[in-house]
Amino acid sequence: MKGVILAGGSGTRLRPLTSVVSKQLLPVFDKPMIYYPLSTLIHAGVNDVLIISTPVDTPRIESLLGDGKDFGIKITYLIQERPEGLAQGVNMASNFAEGEKFWFILGDNFFHGPAFGVNLRLVSDNHGEGALIFAYRVMDPRAYGVVTFDDKTEKIIDLIEKPDSDSPGWAVPGLYRFDSNAQEHFKKLKPSKRGELEIIDLLNEYRKNNSLTMTRISRGNAWFDLGSIESLQIGAQFVQAIQSRQGQLIGSPEEASLRAGFLKEVDFLKYLESQPNSTYYEFLRSYFI
Ligand code: DAU
Repeated sequence: MKGVILAGGSGTRLRPLTSVVSKQLLPVFDKPMIYYPLSTLIHAGVNDVLIISTPVDTPRIESLLGDGKDFGIKITYLIQERPEGLAQGVNMASNFAEGEKFWFILGDNFFHGPAFGVNLRLVSDNHGEGALIFAYRVMDPRAYGVVTFDDKTEKIIDLIEKPDSDSPGWAVPGLYRFDSNAQEHFKKLKPSKRGELEIIDLLNEYRKNNSLTMTRISRGNAWFDLGSIESLQIGAQFVQAIQSRQGQLIGSPEEASLRAGFLKEVDFLKYLESQPNSTYYEFLRSYFI
């Protein structure tokens, strides 16, 4: 199955942290940020990944993750010359998908929850034509795309980007599933007031076509957009708290791949032998002692 990580952008909200380091390579406790969305995709059954990033950051991300062999998957890269919007990323991803449906995740989005990957597989198995979004309840939705819907039928009533109202609502997290119509819908888009081709506008094109579905992410699941200093800190604390309490890693692509059956234990153990004694690799080794 195919999946795409959009990991470009200018990261201005995190300067000076992102002056010389890509946002998606910043640490979130014991691993680089991009490990988390990569693990989410693998848990969802993705073994063919495209990473889209900037001309400067793509080689850096590639030197971290390589061709994916160490994780038992395939990883390829594509450069987005200018950050002209998330919808442009979806359009680029569509060429890679070659008509198949694909997952699309933002490189600064973090998900964790009971059987989250299993649930994503179920959702994608039941997903017909069109695009799929999720809804996550937040106290203040102003930083996100926001969906309103009929409580009983989950039929979408409205979908807007970054509302003015700070009343609690349902944010649209940066995890989507698209079908082969994304490129046709993309052609109809115009840049928004902030000069970007917005993903919400693309999703609204699907909605006009009656081909946008939505699923609520239930309570007990964690979702963070790690794009601000506060959420970066909260995300790191969350990972540290759960990992040290339970003795299990969150956001390890190697572990996700072993579980998915993409990575063979014998290959993984060989790979581990060549890794240093850092906290992260010691954690992974501890699974086999
Ligand atoms: O996190 C969820 C939210 O992500 C959604 O609720 C919003 O609907 C969606 O627009 C997006 O909002 P953000 O304000 O967080 O988007 P941001 O500009 O931060 O971009 C998200 C990621 O995508 C970020 O890691 C940078 C990357 N990016 C962004 C643009 C505009 C690209 O790689 N290329 C781009 O052209």
